[in-house]
Amino acid sequence: MEIVRTVEALQEAKQRQQGSIGFVPTMGALHAGHLSLIRRARAENDVVIVSIFVNPTQFLEGEDLDAYPRREAADTEICERAGVDLLFMPTISQMYESDELSIGAPAKRGYILEGAKRPGHFDGMLQIVMKLLNLTGATRAYFGKKDAQQLVLIQQMVRTYFIPVEIVPCEIVRDSDGLALSSRNAYLSEEERSRALALSRALRKTTERITAGERDVEVLQRVMIDAMEGVDAIEYAVIVDRVFRPVETLKPGNAILLVAARVGRTRLIDNLWI
Ligand code: PAJ
Repeated sequence: MEIVRTVEALQEAKQRQQGSIGFVPTMGALHAGHLSLIRRARAENDVVIVSIFVNPTQFLEGEDLDAYPRREAADTEICERAGVDLLFMPTISQMYESDELSIGAPAKRGYILEGAKRPGHFDGMLQIVMKLLNLTGATRAYFGKKDAQQLVLIQQMVRTYFIPVEIVPCEIVRDSDGLALSSRNAYLSEEERSRALALSRALRKTTERITAGERDVEVLQRVMIDAMEGVDAIEYAVIVDRVFRPVETLKPGNAILLVAARVGRTRLIDNLWI
C-alpha cells in the first residue's frame, strides 16, 4: 500500500496503476462500517483508493472538528490489511485554496433534516466529495446508507455535474446489539451507549408495525418517537421517500425511516430503508 499526502503524489501514484478504480472517502477512525465499504471496493475493482480527511468545511462553528477522533496509525494498518492500494491523507492546504468557489446543496434536500440541524454541512460535504471524485478519477465510489441524506445528495451532484462515476450505496453495519457503527460512538460513555440503543430500537419497532400492515406515516412517526425514550433530545423522527420528499402513506420499496437524537453531548443518526 502506498500512502500519499499531496495531490501531486496521488496523480503520480495513479499513473502507476491500471484498471477500474474503487474509491472510499472517509474521515478516518475507521470501523467495521468503513471496512465493509473498502472490502466491497476491493472485490469490485482493480485498484482501491481510500481517503482519510477530516473535512473542515462540513463542520459548523462549535461542532466537534477539533475533537473528531484521529487515529492515523490504526487506520493505516486497517487499510493495509484490507488490501488498499493507495491511501490518500492530504492536509487542509492540499485540498483548499482561500476564497474558492463553492457548490451549494439544493434547498429541498440539502437544508431539511440533517441540513436544517446543521445548515451548511452538506455544502461543505459536497464540495470535498466533488474534489475527491475528480482527483481520484474513481470508476465507482462507495457510500454508506448510514448517511442517507448525504448519499442522496451525492447521487444528485453526480447527475447534475455529469461526473463520470458510479455511486454504490452500501448497507449499514451495526453492532450485535443494533447500534449503527459510527466514529462518533467513541464519544459515548457506557451508560450513554446503552441509551443510544433507542435509535435502532425505534427503527425496529416501527418496522414491526409496518410488517403488521400500518401505512399511516403520522401513526408510524408517533411509534418512532415513543420508542426513542431514553435519549436526551430527539432531533427528528420522520419517514420520507427515497428522494427525501415527505410522504403521508408509506409505500414499501420507496421509504426511509430516519432518526436523529442527542445522547449526552453526542449527536447520533440512524435510518432504515423500507
Ligand atoms: P465518514 O463519517 O468517515 O464515513 C465514511 C463513509 O462510511 C460514508 O459513506 C458513511 O456513510 C460510511 N459509514 C459510516 N458508518 C457506517 C456504517 N455503520 N455502515 C455502513 N457505512 C458506514 O461520511 C463521511 O465520512 C464524510 O462526510 C465524507 C463522505 C468522507 C466527506 O467528507
